[in-house]
Amino acid sequence: MAGLLTATGAGREIEGSRMRAGVLQPRSRAGWNNCWPGADFAGINITIRVSCMRIVIDTTENAVISADGRHLDLYGKEAFELISHLWLKTSWNQKYSYTFTWLGLPIIQHPEDLVRLQEVIFTLRPDVIIETGVAYGGSLVFCASLLRAMGSKSRVVGIDIKIRPQNRKAIESHELTRYISLIEGDSVGPEAVARAREFVRPGDKVMVILDSNHTKAHVLNELGAYAPLVSPGSYIVATDGIMGLVHDTPRGKPEWDYDNPTQAAREFAACHPEFALEEPKWRFNESELDRTITAWPGAWLKRIR
Ligand SMILES: C[S@@+](CC[C@H](N)C(=O)[O-])C[C@H]1O[C@@H](n2cnc3c(N)ncnc32)[C@H](O)[C@@H]1O
Repeated sequence: MAGLLTATGAGREIEGSRMRAGVLQPRSRAGWNNCWPGADFAGINITIRVSCMRIVIDTTENAVISADGRHLDLYGKEAFELISHLWLKTSWNQKYSYTFTWLGLPIIQHPEDLVRLQEVIFTLRPDVIIETGVAYGGSLVFCASLLRAMGSKSRVVGIDIKIRPQNRKAIESHELTRYISLIEGDSVGPEAVARAREFVRPGDKVMVILDSNHTKAHVLNELGAYAPLVSPGSYIVATDGIMGLVHDTPRGKPEWDYDNPTQAAREFAACHPEFALEEPKWRFNESELDRTITAWPGAWLKRIR
């Protein structure tokens, strides 16, 4: 079925389609459920308002019409980036990152972030990885699996304010548990920080991933507590800055616009010249693309001295 689908908050006609504020309407009388999902998309236009940006996806013309009215090639780089930006928002609202496991344990991350993290761990070969925010333990097992694959004797140290008994059991009975140490406590509490520090020996290459409480204040405190452990050339990663992007989605909160890890990382970098906000270089790229599709925007703080 070929039809014309529109969604907008503008309340006016575009490309011959009738708009009503904020309502998705199939142009044909067949009804929305008949043409989505799984319908033949040939000949369908979709207009979507993203915050104050309207994107028109026109598969009849192979075009994306951007906010400033430019017609972009649907299969070009700019259209890809625009659609990816929107996809990030919708995927977050759908809890897409809550659908994966790593070697048996749930891991709450966007897949591209995991691949990029893997590239950094492989390049850096850290002696110690410290991660705040354990949840089910999938991200600890992810790091541990890389350490084993690299033949490394390094450790990953996970800190969580509450490690549920069933999660502790799953982590401690996992075949990679010998690479993992758990610390239960507030990640910015002096005991947890001191215990994490005990895993670091002089000269160790240390990397830190912050994935616990994502308020700006908490992340700033974590940066203050763990950044001194990070070795030159390595990173401390303030994950989940996607909060800033999704503050206006149904599951988001307005205050996330400014209260998020990206803001914390930015503020930290501004007063710590030994760190620079610097995305790791991709190890391989045979495309024209150069931007990570990430739930961790502005997350990577590299120790430069
Ligand atoms: C997003 S989950 C971590 C996900 C995990 N890193 C992964 O990739 O699967 C956040 C975790 O942070 C923990 N948390 C929240 N506040 C904390 C705090 N102040 N200190 C330590 N952990 C905290 C929560 O208990 C929760 O398990």
